[in-house]
Amino acid sequence: MDIVSPALDDYLLAHCTPADDILRDLVEETHALVPGTSMQITHDEGEFLTMLVRLTGARTAVEVGVFTGYSSVCIARGLPADGRLIACDISEEWTSVARRYWERAGLTDRIDLRLAPADETLRALPEEPFVDFAFIDADKEGYPTYYEELVPRLRPGGLLVLDNVLRTGRVVDPEAQSPADVAIRRINDRITADDRMQSVMLPLRDGVTLARKRT
Ligand SMILES: C[S@@+](CC[C@H](N)C(=O)[O-])C[C@H]1O[C@@H](n2cnc3c(N)ncnc32)[C@H](O)[C@@H]1O
Repeated sequence: MDIVSPALDDYLLAHCTPADDILRDLVEETHALVPGTSMQITHDEGEFLTMLVRLTGARTAVEVGVFTGYSSVCIARGLPADGRLIACDISEEWTSVARRYWERAGLTDRIDLRLAPADETLRALPEEPFVDFAFIDADKEGYPTYYEELVPRLRPGGLLVLDNVLRTGRVVDPEAQSPADVAIRRINDRITADDRMQSVMLPLRDGVTLARKRT
């Protein structure tokens, strides 16, 4: 299911601040490494993340799902020079690409890569609220766990962003019952019913939820 028509998707991409050479090269290298991949966020979503980080004034961010680094570059660019992004992934191969682009973008000092299953990384973080911004874009079955680990660590007013919450429309297809489909429906329902959070789901690309911790 197209969430937005392909023609309008192209129009949306053509009408946001253009990607710079670093991000363009990262897209090219990623597609050479993993032909046909749809794992990387698109540029309009990346600009959206940078804008959200700046608008919230975030200083401390967490990302679950780095891949080759597109979203981490976009998030880290929104942070102040002394800000910090804790970036979680399990792939040495893919994050080695990310590291090169963080270096090229002058962001290495801001990014703290944790190579381990994200549930372990998140559980090991301090339990008090210290996170201003978090982005979840990893294995879909893990979303409910990542959400429950992140929300108590979010500061009041902090923003949690979740990608792929529409599963290309499978959320409304009763026959779609893969573990990933079930997990995404579960987390979508959980967020809506969670009194700690104010949330809105946007039809950007594969669906993006913004969930803000109430003050
Ligand atoms: C959709 S990709 C992330 C794309 C990335 N946000 C970007 O903009 O390019 C998902 C990533 O989640 C990682 N991942 C999968 N299972 C994980 C787990 N249990 N813990 C941490 N990362 C995991 C994969 O290695 C992969 O790099």
